[in-house]
Amino acid sequence: MEKILIIGACGQIGVELTLALRKVYGDGNVLATDIREEHPLLRGTGPYTTLNAMDGAAILDTIKKNGITQVYLLAALLSATGEKDPKKAWDINMQSLIQVLDLGVQEKLTKIYWPSSIAVFGPTTPMEHTPQATVVEPRTVYGISKYAGELWCQYYHQRYGLDVRSLRYPGLISWKSEPGGGTTDYAVEIYHEALKHGKYTSFLSENTYLPMMYMDDAIRGTIELMEAPQDRIKTRMSYNLSAMSFSPKEIAETIRYHIPDFAIDYAPDFRQQIADGWPKSIDDSAARQDWGWQHEYDLNKMTHEMLKNLQNRD
Ligand code: SER
Repeated sequence: MEKILIIGACGQIGVELTLALRKVYGDGNVLATDIREEHPLLRGTGPYTTLNAMDGAAILDTIKKNGITQVYLLAALLSATGEKDPKKAWDINMQSLIQVLDLGVQEKLTKIYWPSSIAVFGPTTPMEHTPQATVVEPRTVYGISKYAGELWCQYYHQRYGLDVRSLRYPGLISWKSEPGGGTTDYAVEIYHEALKHGKYTSFLSENTYLPMMYMDDAIRGTIELMEAPQDRIKTRMSYNLSAMSFSPKEIAETIRYHIPDFAIDYAPDFRQQIADGWPKSIDDSAARQDWGWQHEYDLNKMTHEMLKNLQNRD
């Protein structure tokens, strides 16, 4: 019986991944943890405890006490927050990972999951259909930490046989849990503001294309990757993963289909420079070939779902 520990369960990915893993493995077998208070959507759905991703001794204790066999390490500072305090971002993103990799070897964990990002790429990377293996020169501290982390994952796999798996998520769009500190977060805020105020000021310029994905696809992809047989996992860096690419102007057009008077204007800030260094679209054929990745949501379908679900909830 697998017993799963999720570190960073109250973040944008963590909330929905915890709920999904509880459906697959049973509520009691998925221990959600975060440094924050339990997210309201997690309350009553399974075990929860406070845990600091930087506290290796506490993580070891949690693993031992609960008979944990798998760890999902989701705690991180994202791209925009990271730029405000680069050293802190490096420390949190790296120390938490290396600790968990060491514990994985020491405690003989069966599997570890750790997310990477399109932020590993930089301005020297081919911007269209960015290949799985290509020029990688990230310019944000978040991207540097994610790329270094991928190399550490690969190293622990080669050297110690650790079964660590990873995905390079594009911008993730969700209605249940809130994003925090990312450059792609405009594509979530825009739906909230469209419903509340009928207008939105985008912090990225109108023709900034970025790779994006609806959260349902990201969660399903994560679980499919983790459940794939070992021999289907051909890279122990991180898999490119893709669903759609759009600009602020294009997402606004799909919103106007539902809310005809919706208005958008543009006031790019420091996040524009981050976005300009990232790919516009991603080639994820390796994930599709190796373990059968397929996305379900395109921009129109996602806009429909986001507006419907946010409206029903509020
Ligand atoms: N969504 C993330 C960010 O914008 C990318 O991994 O930082």
